[in-house]
Amino acid sequence: MKIEILLALIGAVAVQSQEMFTNPILNGNSADPAAIFLNGFYYLTLSTDVEHSITIYKSSRLTSFRDAETAVIYRAPPQYYDVWASELHLVDGDLYLYFTQRTEDEIHKMFAMKADDPNNPLGTWGEPIKMMPDWPERQIDGTVFNHGNGKRYFVWATEVLGMLSIDIAEMDSPTSVKASKMNLRWPTSDWEGPFTDEGPYFLYNKNVSYMIFSAESTWGPDYCLGMMSIPYDKDPMSPSNWWFGDDECVFSRNDEENVYTPGHAAFTTSPDGTETWMTYHGCVNTTHIGGYRIARIEKIDWAEDGKPIFPRPHGYNHPQPVPSGQV
Ligand SMILES: *[C@@H]1O[C@H](CO)[C@@H](O)[C@H](O)[C@H]1NC(C)=O
Ligand SMILES: *[C@@H]1O[C@H](CO)[C@@H](O)[C@H](O)[C@H]1NC(C)=O
Repeated sequence: MKIEILLALIGAVAVQSQEMFTNPILNGNSADPAAIFLNGFYYLTLSTDVEHSITIYKSSRLTSFRDAETAVIYRAPPQYYDVWASELHLVDGDLYLYFTQRTEDEIHKMFAMKADDPNNPLGTWGEPIKMMPDWPERQIDGTVFNHGNGKRYFVWATEVLGMLSIDIAEMDSPTSVKASKMNLRWPTSDWEGPFTDEGPYFLYNKNVSYMIFSAESTWGPDYCLGMMSIPYDKDPMSPSNWWFGDDECVFSRNDEENVYTPGHAAFTTSPDGTETWMTYHGCVNTTHIGGYRIARIEKIDWAEDGKPIFPRPHGYNHPQPVPSGQV
């Protein structure tokens, strides 16, 4: 009994001294936030200059990028615009940035760029390479999927008949894919709009790859996340190998805490590597969405069966403990 009281007291002291943060992690429009943790720093990529450039924000703390060091690492040539949804990925020890852009004459296409020095994301980068020049459909939101079968895939959203769905193709280099692709997910349920599945990003746990994606409408308060998965030893190019998930959002608006439109997730770790954290964007009301999608974070827990557990999105009035190991 005495020991229990003592432990409770120690617990209370630990809770009291726990540093807290509140969402969001930036001020002002910061849609499609994606961060990776490299050599003790978080690097967050965002579209800037009215979607004509990409800026990387460097911070030792995932909980705020307000005082981050920044560098504009890409400025689109004059004919390009809609520079969207950039993501950083380490591929075979090199650092790549994947993003979309378009011109008047050509709809959105995926591009990849390589950092001259993978240890210096704020430094210089190579020229963008168009990844899938031969496919005519619109391509946005590309991500790298390192499956446990040892193969690497590119997964992105494509537009066909006015519907956004998710495609997959095996990569044959960090900047290109093999000749065959497969449609992986087509929006069919009410919670998917039914017009939009986009923004895929992968999480890995206990020999299963999880695809987290965004559904419904980017411009509505009911934008949300969905989940599907595949065991490491199964071929992702065969639809029957996938679990298509429960027929519902795993993460959606939280009216009690004024978070709407939560979506476009990416994942990283706490500084000590013990926790999984999600970056995503959300709005504070249902009336201002365009221009007000602001970057936020949440801690992801894991269920016994290996699945990620998504919390409710937390608002500016809900303090949460900072990521483990944050100083
Ligand atoms: C993952 O697969 C490997 C190889 O088959 C196996 O040794 C390991 O126990 C598995 N891990 C889990 C958590 O299932
Ligand atoms: C909704 O949020 C935006 C952005 O924060 C704010 O400018 C606007 O006044 C809010 N509208 C209402 C009706 O509360």
